[in-house]
Amino acid sequence: MESETTPEGYIVEKCGEAEAEEKNPEIFRFAKRMQIEPKIRNSPEKIEENRGFWRRIFEEKKITKVAAPMVDQSELAFRVLVRKYGAQLTYTPMIHAHLFVTDGTYRRNSMALIEKDRPIIVQFCANKVDTFLSACRLVEGHCDGVDLNLGCPQMVAKRGRYGSWLQDEIELICDMVEAVRDFCQLPISCKIRVRESREETVKYAKRLVEAGASMLTVHGRFREMKGAKTGLADWTRIRDVVDAIQKPYGIPIVANGNIQFPGDVERCIESTGAIAVMSAEGLLYNPLIFRDAGPCHVETWKIAKEYLELAKMYSAGASAMRAHVFRICHHSLLEYEDLRMRVSLEHRCEDFQKIVEELGRRYEQCSKISNFVSKCSKFQV
Ligand SMILES: Cc1cc2nc3c(=O)[nH]c(=O)nc-3n(C[C@H](O)[C@H](O)[C@H](O)COP(=O)(O)O)c2cc1C
Repeated sequence: MESETTPEGYIVEKCGEAEAEEKNPEIFRFAKRMQIEPKIRNSPEKIEENRGFWRRIFEEKKITKVAAPMVDQSELAFRVLVRKYGAQLTYTPMIHAHLFVTDGTYRRNSMALIEKDRPIIVQFCANKVDTFLSACRLVEGHCDGVDLNLGCPQMVAKRGRYGSWLQDEIELICDMVEAVRDFCQLPISCKIRVRESREETVKYAKRLVEAGASMLTVHGRFREMKGAKTGLADWTRIRDVVDAIQKPYGIPIVANGNIQFPGDVERCIESTGAIAVMSAEGLLYNPLIFRDAGPCHVETWKIAKEYLELAKMYSAGASAMRAHVFRICHHSLLEYEDLRMRVSLEHRCEDFQKIVEELGRRYEQCSKISNFVSKCSKFQV
């Protein structure tokens, strides 16, 4: 799906799923035509049940490892891959609520879901109460929860008035969360960034929980920390939210930021007190970071090959496949400029597969000739 600008100013990024008529009966896609039934207010019992939903699931399933929502990158094939290697909860890429509600083609292509990829949360960005509620109600019965993206720092989010750019409009955000709490069957969660002061962050998190958020993911970077200014996430600021919310309110907090190596999961939980951690970039470069056991070294091309088999099975989009191959084989591709060029030009899964097989051949040759295996071409797990 190419980028386009809607009248509301949203830029539609790529979603990661190919625009395919679904042939795989395992896969569920939303229909182009859908009707929203009149809304019915949730009973106090249902609201209470939803409020405790994520705490119950985290405890029952002992969830500590969460794969992040990623535009064009947390598509079905990648989610299935990281689940195999230890992710216990996954998110769809961020979906634009307005388009999901109003544009059947966008809705159909925005995500692909399968039963074995559960529990899963559908993440939306939105800035209108009714639109957000409608989008959440449309996905009822097909996922385990809905999430409001309050973390996206990009200029496109500033123009579209969503993500972290909504954090100063607390009344609007709370109205959106309350509407879903009161009228949607699914539990609502929010993904936030830390604010300038510690007090402000805690106050913000409390407002969201009081409005009905049943889980919060806290990314330990400020809104300004992006691109070259990304820097390290501050886990002590996540700890502030955990101390103020997790025990006192019984609402699980997921810590996000700096999960890059095996071992970081335990370090982060220890340091923040969060119930679980979420990883994005770390998982993109090494989809095995959540793995508990297995060989110490795995050749990166073998993981790329495995991903591409899933990409074929689940019709991943070309840009998602390209980005995954680039990231998974990052170090090897730095060595082989010809293959790097080919990755940037190809579109079809078979062509990416040929490149990865060629990487494997060169890797084998290299190890035979010199008996030297570059550390770069393997994941340490
Ligand atoms: C390629 C990419 C796409 C992302 N898309 C989303 C998104 O759709 N929704 C969201 O809330 N955050 C998104 N993020 C942010 C991540 O979910 C995460 O909060 C951030 O990268 C920090 O985690 P990390 O240090 O593990 O990378 C994205 C990040 C990356 C790298």
